[in-house]
Amino acid sequence: MRQLFPPPTGLLDDDGLDRAYGDEPADFLRINFVASADGASTLDGHAGGLGSPTDQQVLRLLRDRSDGILVGAGTARAESYRPLRDDPARSRARTGRGLARVPPLILVSRRLAIDPGEPIIANAVARTVIVTCAGSDRGRREALAAVTPVIVAGEDIVDLAAARSALAERGLRRLVCEGGPTLFSTALAAGIVDELCLTVSPMLTGPGAARIVDGHLQIDPVRLALRHLLEDDGYLFLRYAVDEGRP
Ligand SMILES: NC(=O)c1ccc[n+]([C@@H]2O[C@H](COP(=O)([O-])OP(=O)(O)OC[C@H]3O[C@@H](n4cnc5c(N)ncnc54)[C@H](OP(=O)(O)O)[C@@H]3O)[C@@H](O)[C@H]2O)c1
Repeated sequence: MRQLFPPPTGLLDDDGLDRAYGDEPADFLRINFVASADGASTLDGHAGGLGSPTDQQVLRLLRDRSDGILVGAGTARAESYRPLRDDPARSRARTGRGLARVPPLILVSRRLAIDPGEPIIANAVARTVIVTCAGSDRGRREALAAVTPVIVAGEDIVDLAAARSALAERGLRRLVCEGGPTLFSTALAAGIVDELCLTVSPMLTGPGAARIVDGHLQIDPVRLALRHLLEDDGYLFLRYAVDEGRP
């Protein structure tokens, strides 16, 4: 891994890479995505084909720096999300930073098409938190609440600003959001995004796939400030602060 910006450039070892992402405040929402050079967020319906081993390393690193992993139900379904396991080496590093051994998944859904017996709930070491809205089906909500924490925020869709406050009350303050594009647009509209970590894959995939921000919400243009640019094997790793100011 080479650092291109800010200069001087140089090779980064694992500790250097960790430090490159490591000055986030205690209350923080970071979004992590990979996209092709022509802007696609999926290849054959999945993100994985766009990534690389180093992209996976960054994904793990960002998880290991977070209190919880926020993800939309669409992504959890498409990418077959499973709760994180208690990996001794990673858990030790986490507790050394004052974090819980294992970060919970935080699943955002209105439809709640999730069975309480599914592995994403039933096999969780750190209990998966469901974030939904008052308009969700009451029976489904209650069935899930019997086995795992459920936060209700907003009416028709999840009010992500209110959800973030409720998560902070549970000690989940430093969050990484792994998408997907619909959840990202809602988070941008709510004005709660602090940072975007974007891997640009050296690949053109053609038309059809959604971009990293998608859905039906209108988003005002958002100004980004480049924090760093790393490169590995042609993959670019951009770290952007999300500016409050509009262009
Ligand atoms: N390139 C990447 O890095 C990357 C990252 C993540 C995902 N992806 C890809 O993106 C695709 C999925 O896209 P997507 O936009 O459907 O993903 P998504 O944002 O994860 O899922 C959308 C679903 O999440 C729930 N949701 C999101 N925001 C909500 C809100 N404010 N209130 C209530 N519910 C909310 C809803 O679930 P319910 O339908 O359950 O109500 C909604 O249908 C997959 O193909 C995946 O591979 C790519």
